[in-house]
Amino acid sequence: MEGYDKEILLSRDKIQERVRELALEISRDYQGKEPVLIGILNGVIFFFTDLIRNMTIPVKLDFIRAASYGTGTESSGVIRFSKDVEIDIRGQEVIVVEDIVDTGLTLSKIKESLQKKGPSSVKICVLIDKRERRETEVTIDYCGFRIDEGFIVGYGLDFNEQYRHLPDIFVLKEKGAST
Ligand code: IMP
Repeated sequence: MEGYDKEILLSRDKIQERVRELALEISRDYQGKEPVLIGILNGVIFFFTDLIRNMTIPVKLDFIRAASYGTGTESSGVIRFSKDVEIDIRGQEVIVVEDIVDTGLTLSKIKESLQKKGPSSVKICVLIDKRERRETEVTIDYCGFRIDEGFIVGYGLDFNEQYRHLPDIFVLKEKGAST
């Protein structure tokens, strides 16, 4: 995309290795159970499928699509579900799977909404925990990588719907910006 350079942050090998570890950790914690994994569309697609196929326990799958009203890259905290969960999660163990947590507003609203449906537990699994702009504390039960700042793309993550297809993760930098 014009006006931006991208610098590699996480290689596909590093991502795959960490996703495998997370899948095994979740499988151990939920041994003998069949949790419902709920992916937050669209950015989660690669992470969600890689995570699930590395798990050693059966799972049920569903998706939520959440749009946040805001300006540019800022999230407003006003969340609208354009697709809500369809499985009946009453009494079920739920794991919400998200690509990245930034301000925390999206995930905290999603968790709040899911809890109203009466699941026996709701845990959160994110590939990337980006702490710099956190506004609401949200407990991350399973985390792939922690970064302090920066806008990242690739492996499902986009900037204006670009870069999602890339198998590695990159930091986007304005051309000419100092590092
Ligand atoms: P939050 O409500 O601020 O935590 O918003 C999280 C959502 O913002 C994620 O699901 C992404 O869609 C988007 N987002 C936040 N940071 C990034 C980033 O660095 N790259 C791509 N998308 C991001």
